[in-house]
Amino acid sequence: MVTDVINTKDLHKVDPVFGQQSFDNHEQVVFCNDKDTGLKAIIGIHNTVLGPALGGTRMWAYQNEWEALNDVLRLSRGMTFKSAITGLNLGGGKAVIIGDAKTQKTSELMKKFGEFVHSLNGKYITAEDVGMTTEDMDTVREVTPYVTGISESIGGAGNPSPITAYGVFMGMKAAAKFKFGSDVLEGKSVFVQGIGNVGEALVEHLVDEGANVTISDISQDRLEEVRTKYGVTIYGGNDIYTESMDIYAPCALGATINDDTIYKLKAAVIAGAANNQLAVEEKHGKILQERGIVYAPDFLINAGGIINVYAELEGYDRKEIMRKTENIYNTTLEILSNAQTHNITTNHAALNIAQNRIETRKKENSK
Ligand SMILES: NC(=O)c1ccc[n+]([C@@H]2O[C@H](COP(=O)([O-])OP(=O)(O)OC[C@H]3O[C@@H](n4cnc5c(N)ncnc54)[C@H](O)[C@@H]3O)[C@@H](O)[C@H]2O)c1
Repeated sequence: MVTDVINTKDLHKVDPVFGQQSFDNHEQVVFCNDKDTGLKAIIGIHNTVLGPALGGTRMWAYQNEWEALNDVLRLSRGMTFKSAITGLNLGGGKAVIIGDAKTQKTSELMKKFGEFVHSLNGKYITAEDVGMTTEDMDTVREVTPYVTGISESIGGAGNPSPITAYGVFMGMKAAAKFKFGSDVLEGKSVFVQGIGNVGEALVEHLVDEGANVTISDISQDRLEEVRTKYGVTIYGGNDIYTESMDIYAPCALGATINDDTIYKLKAAVIAGAANNQLAVEEKHGKILQERGIVYAPDFLINAGGIINVYAELEGYDRKEIMRKTENIYNTTLEILSNAQTHNITTNHAALNIAQNRIETRKKENSK
């Protein structure tokens, strides 16, 4: 039986890995357990045709293991297509650590996680994601070279989040150009949901350009901090999905565009950093298309971070990082136009390009 996310009590009725929709022909899934440090992690290696599977590690207090597994499988698949569409020679992988990053993360736990990464001999290369910092990656670096996103002082490219935010900003401008005929965001109402590392840096770009920015977050402290710094508005209502806005920028967790929200949404454009924004890609992509809401595919516009960490492997400089990230503008415009011409969803149009690149390389590799 194939299924998507299901209730834990029904788990026995399904094949939990190969049988779920998130499992999209992953090459390898590794479960990591260490009693002494309390580490419980899952590494998902989706595809290594283009290169080693690179993707960040997320630490999150998942409700149950099923939710963690589902997340890592969806995220690692997304990384395959993100690197493919960005033209990087990387495959797709991702890791999740089950636990609360604020209370359960220790340097012993991070080192143990690093040892598991090391045991894969470079097939998977890690980096930071939600719940992780550059310092955590520096700790992982003590036990394995298969880590990126480390501090500049030890040869890394530093925190990727500002670059990710710049790429999202570029993608958002391209989507605005497509929808409104101009990429100037001055005067546009933009709702940034989640003002963490990426969200805050995005707010800064938007404020610099003169957009009317509203923010939301589950952390009251963050809200106050960002409001004080940039003079933006904190959302005071009950349901952001019913609010009128020009642009919705999801920068927290994924799947916020789902059966409950999609028909309420009043935004003209969706462009944000969160991975896997569409709960069910084809279904929700299609509804957005029918409703005339322009969706800038997440894995396309949030690639700045991976461009930044890839520099650590390839040795290119800051100028090249910015050039590649700026190019997200052109790729986004191309894909939005392509989707319109072929009457397919924007997500589908982006996936087609990514999949073609992988298939072509696969043929070359087998020669
Ligand atoms: N950091 C990167 O370079 C990068 C790259 C690509 C994609 N992403 C994705 O972008 C998103 C944000 O990443 P980040 O590094 O800024 O993470 P972060 O942990 O720094 O920030 C996430 C923020 O979202 C908030 N949040 C969580 N649940 C929320 C909710 N329901 N409503 C409102 N706010 C909520 C958190 O309190 C936090 O402030 C993630 O989905 C991540 O996977 C990040």
